Amino acid sequence: MGDLTLRALWAQTTEVLSARHEARWLCEVATALDGAAFDAALDEPVTDRMVNHLDSMVARYRAGEPLQYVLGRWSFRRLDLAVDRRVLIPRPETELVAEIAIELAMLFDPRRIADLGTGSGAIGLSLAVELPIEGTTVWITDASADALALARANLAGVGRAAHNVTAAEGDWFGALPTNERFDVIVSNPPYVADQAVELASSVRDWEPADALFAGPDGLDDLRRLVAGAPAHLSAGGWLVLEIGADQGDAVRSLMERTGYDRVEVRPDLAGHDRIAVGRFAGV
Ligand SMILES: C[S@@+](CC[C@H](N)C(=O)[O-])C[C@H]1O[C@@H](n2cnc3c(N)ncnc32)[C@H](O)[C@@H]1O
Repeated sequence: MGDLTLRALWAQTTEVLSARHEARWLCEVATALDGAAFDAALDEPVTDRMVNHLDSMVARYRAGEPLQYVLGRWSFRRLDLAVDRRVLIPRPETELVAEIAIELAMLFDPRRIADLGTGSGAIGLSLAVELPIEGTTVWITDASADALALARANLAGVGRAAHNVTAAEGDWFGALPTNERFDVIVSNPPYVADQAVELASSVRDWEPADALFAGPDGLDDLRRLVAGAPAHLSAGGWLVLEIGADQGDAVRSLMERTGYDRVEVRPDLAGHDRIAVGRFAGV
């Protein structure tokens, strides 16, 4: 590549994309250098291999593929997760869902948690990493074998906390052991209405449909989770659900009618209804 340096490659990519941060992230992946290592190598020459890798990523990005899939990874709370088209891209609002689940799980010692529809593993693996190693058990499940394969790859990257995690494939509660109860069941299920018109094309065209759509009103999976959780919760255990911004009233009433107490719908950082929580006192 002659004398082309990393600094020049980054500048060229910034110009092509009109986006300095995105260009930097793509250059970091192409060169396999992160943060300080990238800065330290700015005046080093780049190789053909790096340039070819970068060219192919830039072409994918310019064709509309979400940056996270092009990079093949994305950060979620303390995790650097592998992501690709098998899973939903973990969202910032879901970081708040994980935070609430962590706070509720800390009420129990020991604590058993299930993250249903784990996708990349974002919520369940955050719980495993952020809760005390001692006394924590986490199940991560998904109906998609493809998604679960990626969650397992991410599980392998969490170190010691991985010993506390079991990954299982299956349809919602069908993936859980029948003889165990959970103190917190958390899920970010599909909650987009099948015919939703306001969905961005970058989401509709690239992210897995099975991770997004849930019937005519988007509530099909939320209904199943609300109805099914009591049989798997310990007495006083909590259900934590991510919901659509227009689903707060419907999910609150579903939970109250099913017999949950302390039902609350909480907003995301933009002030939209986003998280429904409720406790099941037991029968
Ligand atoms: C909105 S995505 C959430 C992924 C991840 N938890 C996150 O927050 O980034 C929903 C996930 O639920 C899974 N899913 C859909 N239907 C399911 C079902 N019937 N049983 C279990 N998982 C299901 C999808 O495969 C997908 O991974």
